[in-house]
Amino acid sequence: MEIFKKISDMQAWSRDQRKAGKRIGLVPTMGYLHEGHLSLVRKAKADCDAVIVSIFVNPLQFGVGEDYEEYPRDLTRDCGLLEKEGVEAVFAPSVREMYPAGYSTTVEVSGDITARLCGASRPGHFRGVTTVVSKLFNICLPDIAYFGQKDAQQAMVLEKMVRELNFPLKIVRCPIVREADGLALSSRNVYLNEEERKSALVLSRSLALAREMIEKGETGVASVRGAMIEFIQSTPHTDIDYVEILNGEDLSDLAEIKGKVLIALAVRVGRTRLIDNLLLEV
Ligand code: PAJ
Repeated sequence: MEIFKKISDMQAWSRDQRKAGKRIGLVPTMGYLHEGHLSLVRKAKADCDAVIVSIFVNPLQFGVGEDYEEYPRDLTRDCGLLEKEGVEAVFAPSVREMYPAGYSTTVEVSGDITARLCGASRPGHFRGVTTVVSKLFNICLPDIAYFGQKDAQQAMVLEKMVRELNFPLKIVRCPIVREADGLALSSRNVYLNEEERKSALVLSRSLALAREMIEKGETGVASVRGAMIEFIQSTPHTDIDYVEILNGEDLSDLAEIKGKVLIALAVRVGRTRLIDNLLLEV
């Protein structure tokens, strides 16, 4: 497995792969890998001839007062896991390599799709994501890039960016990987203490509650949303950031629960902000 720190080396390797007719798969990550990340890697390995995993904690997508400094990092462990998966290359640049002094170019998708949900509570977050992912696409030259449904809004924003900027690649979305009890895997789960870990189940359980109500025929956005909020508020150590039920194509408002529906929530459990979602075809 090759480990590249320099953009020029990574790009040269990717060009060689392309020249040799290899299909390149890219899995962008911020590291501290878990089974969620590895599910993307395995899908990429199954589809492609050369898989690149990028590991870069991107300062541009963290707001002031967020957890950029504390974000867990362990490149040695991550590389061990990726070696076992048979990954061909890891791209792990420094912040200076990606954003040299004076760096000032950003890529932005505008509209509801970035203004709502995480975009409302984390201003500038998606601009950071679209900027770094554009750079990764230009450096790694993937035919296919893999993203998780765990970050549903991120995947939607990146799909729109790829369409509208005509990036010559395909995005594949992979399903959410969960712990046995339902908690969606996240690098941030390591922040939770024992009590908070129990309370964190409220995210997947409130989504299960919503699904149950909808399966029984409930079509009212306000009543499902209200039931979820009430359930979450009855759980200790929780503080709701948002609970929303929106059009799953473009994040516009829904008059009723019908068609492609995204139920998404962000909840602070103790000091840790967790997200989860459910995409339904009603
Ligand atoms: P990170 O949070 O490390 O996630 C990397 C990829 O793994 C994302 O596509 C995310 O959706 C996916 N992922 C995380 N947890 C998952 C789970 N439980 N099940 C399935 N997929 C999961 O998302 C980012 O990094 C960054 O924003 C990035 C795209 C790398 C840009 O910096």
